[in-house]
Amino acid sequence: MVVDMTHQATTADDTLPGKPTAASRTTLSHIMTVNDTNLLGTVHGGVIMKLADDAAGAVAGRHSEGPAVTASMDEMAFLEPVRVGDLVHVKAQVNWTGRTSMEVGVRVMAERWNESTPATQVGSAYLVFAAIDENGKPRTVPPVVPETEQDRRRYQEAQIRRTHRLARRRAIKELRAQR
Ligand SMILES: CC(C)(COP(=O)(O)OP(=O)(O)OC[C@H]1O[C@@H](n2cnc3c(N)ncnc32)[C@H](O)[C@@H]1OP(=O)(O)O)[C@@H](O)C(=O)NCCC(=O)NCCS
Repeated sequence: MVVDMTHQATTADDTLPGKPTAASRTTLSHIMTVNDTNLLGTVHGGVIMKLADDAAGAVAGRHSEGPAVTASMDEMAFLEPVRVGDLVHVKAQVNWTGRTSMEVGVRVMAERWNESTPATQVGSAYLVFAAIDENGKPRTVPPVVPETEQDRRRYQEAQIRRTHRLARRRAIKELRAQR
């Protein structure tokens, strides 16, 4: 499949060399404890969201080679409950890069403490990080270079989400300006 790099070419800093997706891909693993539970006794969604943000932040920092902050988090999906004792793996990678922002995709897997089955996917999310300089201002990031068919698919899907995010922000801004 051919990836349309046109959009990236107009937004990313051409002076920075590209970096492959694999260079910053990261997995963060954590065993859930009683401190992570909600009133039902299963793991609180916010705990999973923090792990997703932590893993994505590590990836964004690695890719951009400096500090990066969360600009948005969307499409956080909780597919299955996570329980105390489960070993949670949060896998994160840069799906797409703009001029100063990166979309990081996160997949949350759980190894059940009392089962010898393979890890099951329990959640997913997409986060946008902006790389910032010492004054907290956005700085340019190296373009991500998707290498595998799956990375190229994720890149294209991230572009669609990016278009929708921008369109939604613009539409809401315009509506508010009319009031
Ligand atoms: C994110 C932040 C740096 C953006 O600063 P800004 O002055 O609005 O700068 P810009 O408008 O140029 O945005 C920078 C990039 O982030 C993207 N961006 C900003 N807000 C976004 C949002 N809500 N959703 C998606 N992307 C966003 C922009 O599209 C731009 O990307 P691009 O350069 O690749 O096109 C700024 O809003 C900030 O510091 N926010 C607080 C972040 C933080 O503290 N996070 C931790 C949570 S407590």
